[in-house]
Amino acid sequence: MIIKACIFDLDGVLVDTAHFHFLAWKQLADKLGFVFTETDNERLKGVSRMDSLEILLEIGNLILSKEEKIRYAAEKNLVYLNHIEQMTPDDVLPGVRDFLNELKKNGILTGLGSASKNARLILEKTHLMPMFDAIVDGNLISLAKPNPEVFARGAQLLGVESSSCVVFEDAVAGVQAAHNAGMICVGIGSPEILKEADRVFPSIRNIRLGDLVFS
Ligand code: BG6
Ligand code: MG
Repeated sequence: MIIKACIFDLDGVLVDTAHFHFLAWKQLADKLGFVFTETDNERLKGVSRMDSLEILLEIGNLILSKEEKIRYAAEKNLVYLNHIEQMTPDDVLPGVRDFLNELKKNGILTGLGSASKNARLILEKTHLMPMFDAIVDGNLISLAKPNPEVFARGAQLLGVESSSCVVFEDAVAGVQAAHNAGMICVGIGSPEILKEADRVFPSIRNIRLGDLVFS
């Protein structure tokens, strides 16, 4: 396989916003009166805001009206945005800039494939925006991971076929989305959780282009 493009998930891969999402959902769970743990949070990774709220409510065994759900999702987002506001270029995870530069030097296109509607704000805050040839975020897609839309759209914007793309993902739903798009997927995190990924690395820092050999 000749790699023409690498498409990156954002939260938990390029920046540690997965923790900010956790803190914001936990604050809501506390308010609603139930316990929400880091283990529960794994289920929310890669999942859209409203779908995350549905999972949260299932964990808390709560049923809310549509209006209440919209209000609580907006409330959670405000708490999350407070964390994002504090972000600087120092919040980019170790090795990310070096790896993106290595891809650029080797003529490999780079794309972002994130479910987040806040993705552009995070790229601005961290100065990562110019590193990407195409950006697909939660505002551009209607079908959440594991649906392949986010990555298929990325490949389309980059002008490459899916079979030449490698996706980098920290979420189970994201790994499935990459495979559903017909792409190779590198998992970022723990092999026990990301069992379906083609390769798993603890973080982007541990990857060199030469490691990405797929038949
Ligand atoms: C994904 C995160 O990248 O974006 C999820 O992994 C999050 O945890 C989703 O729910 C939507 O994010 P946002 O910023 O639009 O609420
Ligand atoms: Mg992620």
